[in-house]
Amino acid sequence: MNVLKEKGIPIDKQIRTWHDIVKRPYNRMEADNYTRTRQILMNGIETEAWGFKHCFVRKSDDMELNKTLVRIRRIEDMQQTTINWLSPVNQTVLDTTLGYEQVAVDLTAWLAQNEPDEYVKETFDFGLLEDFDHLYRYSQFAYLIEETDPNEILHEMTDVLIGRPTQYHHNCNALRIRKPYDKDKTSPQTKVNILTLVSGEQQTHNYYAEHGFMYGNTDLKRLYAEICDVEEEHVTMYETLVDPNETMFEKWLVHEFTEVCNYYNCYKDEVDDRLKLIWEEMMQMEIGHLQAAADMFKKYEKRDPEEIIGTELVLPCHFESQKPYVTEILKSQVDKRVIEDGEFDVVEELPDDWASYKVQKMVSEKGAPSEQAIRLSIKSIGRDIACASEKMLEMQSELLDDSLEEVQAPNTVDVEKYEKFNKIPPLDFLNY
Ligand SMILES: [Fe+2]
Ligand SMILES: [Fe+2]
Ligand SMILES: [Fe+2]
Ligand SMILES: [Fe+2]
Repeated sequence: MNVLKEKGIPIDKQIRTWHDIVKRPYNRMEADNYTRTRQILMNGIETEAWGFKHCFVRKSDDMELNKTLVRIRRIEDMQQTTINWLSPVNQTVLDTTLGYEQVAVDLTAWLAQNEPDEYVKETFDFGLLEDFDHLYRYSQFAYLIEETDPNEILHEMTDVLIGRPTQYHHNCNALRIRKPYDKDKTSPQTKVNILTLVSGEQQTHNYYAEHGFMYGNTDLKRLYAEICDVEEEHVTMYETLVDPNETMFEKWLVHEFTEVCNYYNCYKDEVDDRLKLIWEEMMQMEIGHLQAAADMFKKYEKRDPEEIIGTELVLPCHFESQKPYVTEILKSQVDKRVIEDGEFDVVEELPDDWASYKVQKMVSEKGAPSEQAIRLSIKSIGRDIACASEKMLEMQSELLDDSLEEVQAPNTVDVEKYEKFNKIPPLDFLNY
């Protein structure tokens, strides 16, 4: 389908009543876990669509252009309210947090396998193992504080076990800067893939920043602070893949196209009939936005929008279980690290003056909250909270061994401890 030839809903028909804007939430117990991941991601996509248009108007003194941008921006904002408020009131912050990290793991794995640019794929794989570890750390508290079996939320679609340990995600943020694609050579799919992930990571950062304080538990608050900061690094890492020479009009086209593609993908995959209708309505609205962006692009840049977004839709957010792919990346890349000039290296090759060592020493001087999470589980139930096949769980100590650096937080849970507690059957803890 060439979306530029579709009509969609015209902008002046997109203002909705408050009754239409605020819809009934999905059911916490009955919702499909990938309905939840779609809702979490689309909230992030709308937030980015809104924020981008604020940046655009702040840089523009063209009244005709600005009038169009602010009108569409309000629609994005109303869409964001609709999507975000589909969250049920009885879904706790930790439940939602597990949902956010499930988005990050399964979305990044999907994108990595559907990314034509090798370097961009490598960057996605790198980030994947970090969000995978976040899911493991938060799962400890989901059980300890709210007695939640992580699979109540994840529905056994995503494994919970150690990844690249979170204490090693703290870099000199300058090392996170990656090499940008060339806007004239890269495919529309790469542009959409990256913007989708940037939007998701940015929203994850915002969610932790705005909700981490909502628990009266200092260890958990520190964990939110720690992982919130990693998400900031992730936004840096993914957004620097984008060619900074793209014009604002090109970026606008890519933004609306990304919204159309994501809603289309949600509509196509959705199992809940009521949500399916919402995705369809939102997609029709986005086609209207894309038409406006295309008109402005032709008027101001005198070029064909197809040069930027092509003629085919892409599928940037198909959710399905990615366990085998994540296992493969986990086994082969847990020891990878970011270095200068957008390159990667492995732990054994890092120089003594690697800039991230300094940062890690500073932030973890009094202990890493992500290590404290495991310690608290051991104290309470004898082992960590982990949900994966027996074979995978046995690998935990090996994975840790491969990823340990010279710099370690003073409260690091060591390989020996993992070997010891891994002998306790994991299912027992849920009946403890
Ligand atoms: Fe939107
Ligand atoms: Fe994460
Ligand atoms: Fe992330
Ligand atoms: Fe839009």
